This record gives sequence, structure tokens and C-alpha cells, in this order.
Amino acid sequence: MSENEYLNKIVKGDALTILKTLPDGILDLGVTSPPYNKGENKKGWLVTNVKYSGATDKFPEDSYQKSQIDVLNEVYRITRPDGSFFYNHKIRWERGEMFHPMDWLRKTKWTIRQEIIWNRMIAANIRGWRFWQVEERVYWLYKPKGKELIGEELKPKHALQTSIWRFPPEKKNTHPAPFPLALPVRVIYSIMDEKKGVIIDPYCGSGTTLVSAKILGHAFIGIEISDEYVKLAEERLKNYRNEIKCANEEIAKHVVEKTFKERKEKGEFTGKYGKRNIKTENSQNVLELFDYVKI
Ligand SMILES: C[S@@+](CC[C@H](N)C(=O)[O-])C[C@H]1O[C@@H](n2cnc3c(N)ncnc32)[C@H](O)[C@@H]1O
Repeated sequence: MSENEYLNKIVKGDALTILKTLPDGILDLGVTSPPYNKGENKKGWLVTNVKYSGATDKFPEDSYQKSQIDVLNEVYRITRPDGSFFYNHKIRWERGEMFHPMDWLRKTKWTIRQEIIWNRMIAANIRGWRFWQVEERVYWLYKPKGKELIGEELKPKHALQTSIWRFPPEKKNTHPAPFPLALPVRVIYSIMDEKKGVIIDPYCGSGTTLVSAKILGHAFIGIEISDEYVKLAEERLKNYRNEIKCANEEIAKHVVEKTFKERKEKGEFTGKYGKRNIKTENSQNVLELFDYVKI
């Protein structure tokens, strides 16, 4: 496929098939949330079960994991060395058996750079057979440059967003499983900072990653199998200006008011055990503790 055919477009089709047609090393960064293989059965009364309009989300777990490894390895091939991919998924249980994203991520070519907790603050199933699962995961996958496994550091204003992200689920979107705009904005702004590049989402759904990339001034590539969601994403891209305010709210969080050095010099709070009285009896207060650490 030539550059004009895929840049700033949504290609309709199967992610793996389309990825195989793209040239090596063209991407700087990707963000995605794939179908989770949730089996399309109702698992909690609080939320409606997820059904996509153009594809099933019900596969034998082994073939699902194999297909995810294949997709992730294709994205690796088309990412430039020193590029990254952020992969949103969750821990699932099927009849008591746990499936953890690490089960297949360790089998890919990527270096797993970080596991981020996305605190969604709401559980799909509030029965007590396990503690309410209010979180999903976001994996920062890194393609090393040569033998260098660590790569460039984040700027402090991005790194202080911490490894626990607190975003409520998206409510205004008609897609059955979108992530909030703030999530890809956080990823893209943190990794790219002022640089411009090419961003992919191989399961782009309603186009949240693509709208974020566009607002932040990057080129993008979207892949999506459902006609309905391709149209939805194209419509959103046309009206991307309506979402600038929301993106700016996330960007405004990336600020260092005072460096650690400045705080220390002025004898101010520099760490976790400050003077403020933090209650940790329940999860809400623990989260406040994290906000506090974040400064
Ligand atoms: C979790 S959703 C992504 C939602 C997206 N992050 C958003 O904010 O709208 C997963 C998407 O993958 C799409 N999908 C499922 N199987 C696919 C495949 N084989 N190739 C490409 N897209 C697929 C579904 O139609 C769905 O829109």
C-alpha cells in the first residue's frame, strides 16, 4: 500500500490482513483497545454486554491469543525502532480461570516497558465472588533501538501522571466499547511531546485515537472492520474541533508546578509521607493518596 492510501485514513477490513500490507518502520506510536474476547454473554447486570456490529467477540481463547500475538508482531514490524505501542486490555475470568494479558504479551516481539492501571471507577459485575474489578490495564510496549531496551525518558510533566490513570468510562459515544478521549491524548502527548509523527490504531472503533492524533497535529492510520464504526469515526474526524476542549483538559494536567529540587530547597513536601492526614480505610482515599503523591 502506498503512503497516500493509508495516511490520515481509516482502512476498512481485518486488522491483521491490512497490517500485512503496510511497509516496515512507518509508525512512531500506536494506541489501541482490541476486542477482548468477552464471549458476548452477559456477565453483569450493571452494564450491557458488548456486541460489535461487524465482528464476533467470541473465539476459543487459544486462537484469540494467537491472533493478538500475530497482530502485535505486525504492528512491531511496521513501527520504527524506538517507537511504542499502547495496548489497552483487561484481566478476564472464564469459569474461574484467569486470562491475563501478560499470558500473550510475553510471547510477542515487544519489550514490555510498563503496566499501567486504568482505574475506571466502576465495576461491571458487583457480585462478591472476587473484589469488584474497577480497573483495566494499559501496556506500554517498546521497540528497542539496537540493544538499548530502555529508550528515551519521559519529560517530568508527563511522567508525573503516574502509573495509575483515573478516567471514568466514556458515556457520550454510541460505540459499544470506546475509551475516553483523554486516554489516547495522554499517551500521544506524553510520548510524542512536541515531535510530530504517525500514529496507528488497528482496532479504531469510533476513532478516539485518530481524533486525538489529529487534534495533536499527527498523521494517523485507522483500521476497523465494521462499516458502521468506520462511518462513526469519519464523522468524528470531520468534527474533531468539537473535542479540542476535552483534549485540552487532559493536556492542562501535564505541568510541573515545582520541581522536586525546588520543593526540597524550600523545605516543602517532597514525598509520600507528608503532613496531610490521609485516610486509607477505603479505596477512594487510597486514590486521593495517589493524587497527592502526584502533586
Ligand atoms: C474495543 S473496540 C475499540 C474502540 C475504540 N478504542 C474507540 O474508542 O472507539 C474494538 C474494535 O475492534 C473492531 N474489530 C473487531 N474485530 C476486528 C478485526 N478483526 N479487525 C479490525 N477491527 C476489528 C470492533 O468492531 C471494535 O470497533
